[in-house]
Amino acid sequence: MQLPEHGANPRYVYTRLGMEPPGRILDFSENCNPEGPPQAVLDSWPELATHLQNYPDPSGEPFLSRVATYHGGSDEAVLVGNGAAEVLSLIAERYRGKRAIVVHPTFSEYEATLVAKGVEIERIIASEADGFALPVGLIEEKLMEASVLYICTPNNPTGVLPTEMELLSLIVKAGEIGCEVVLDEAFIDFVDESRSFIPKVKDFPHCLVVRSMTKMYAIPGIRLGYVVATPDVITSLKSGAPHWNVNGVAAKIGAVCLNEVEYRERAVRHAAERRADMASFLVNYGCVVTDSSANFLSFRLRDGLDSRELYADMLARGIVLRHSENFVGMDGRWLRIGMKSVLELDELKRELADWFSGRNS
Ligand SMILES: Cc1ncc(COP(=O)(O)O)c(C=O)c1O
Repeated sequence: MQLPEHGANPRYVYTRLGMEPPGRILDFSENCNPEGPPQAVLDSWPELATHLQNYPDPSGEPFLSRVATYHGGSDEAVLVGNGAAEVLSLIAERYRGKRAIVVHPTFSEYEATLVAKGVEIERIIASEADGFALPVGLIEEKLMEASVLYICTPNNPTGVLPTEMELLSLIVKAGEIGCEVVLDEAFIDFVDESRSFIPKVKDFPHCLVVRSMTKMYAIPGIRLGYVVATPDVITSLKSGAPHWNVNGVAAKIGAVCLNEVEYRERAVRHAAERRADMASFLVNYGCVVTDSSANFLSFRLRDGLDSRELYADMLARGIVLRHSENFVGMDGRWLRIGMKSVLELDELKRELADWFSGRNS
């Protein structure tokens, strides 16, 4: 039986597998900032409620201009959306009936939104043997035949961050042959803003950079994301967007979030420390771990151990990992762990240690 797809929906997994959900579930399949939304957002709640009776600003203010200043660009180069998910859907329309390259394993929504617009998909699979690094050579061979290349940086579910050289070489080549490039930077906040491609978009007008507010600011429920591109591209994407596509409360929350410098620094530090700790724990048990730069990592068990069995046993203990059965190129052998609080990760390590202890090499 195929395991159900379940990003951040742990109860659904139990129901689909016919298992009784335990009273307490620790969900490591989800990968938002474990600190929760910034305190400033929670503090502004009573004031936000007073705006419920007002229509939102149609261009998504005050978020729109806050995004523009955050990146040192202009409002005309930004389109805000109801989550990066909506932005990806608007972008897919741009390639209707054309051909797109999607590099796997990666976030499933690229293909889902493109296929919905009749886009033909050329899949390129990053190899496990190369640590899931971007297969630049393979991609370059296929660029000629495509209208767009999608790259997730850092990638979900591996967390691998393409090098600046890899990205630049692909982007330059794509520009020469008229292929657009969509960079999804949903998790780049956990790396460093200096690794974002956004400042370079003005020099590479065939690039569109997608960002999500969900992950860093732990606000998946509010739905907020944006895309930065040339003003021409933004105007054309905007023509496909519904009026008031960003609600007024979300637009105010987004503007508050972008002021949170210390909150962001704490999150980057936490993710790096927890990732290093979890990676060395897993390597001690013979696992192979991805070289992640995000607030999650993926790992596979040493040969002879069954990741499906581990996944099921953890479920029975109330621990939900993210399986990889629907990630092309991972074939279910890998599992992803979101970096939660120290206490939660310690509990996960205790349960994993117990599981491994019954399986000596
Ligand atoms: C790589 C990646 N991009 C985009 C999204 C969508 O983000 P949002 O919540 O802003 O729609 C996700 C959500 O999981 C993601 O993993």
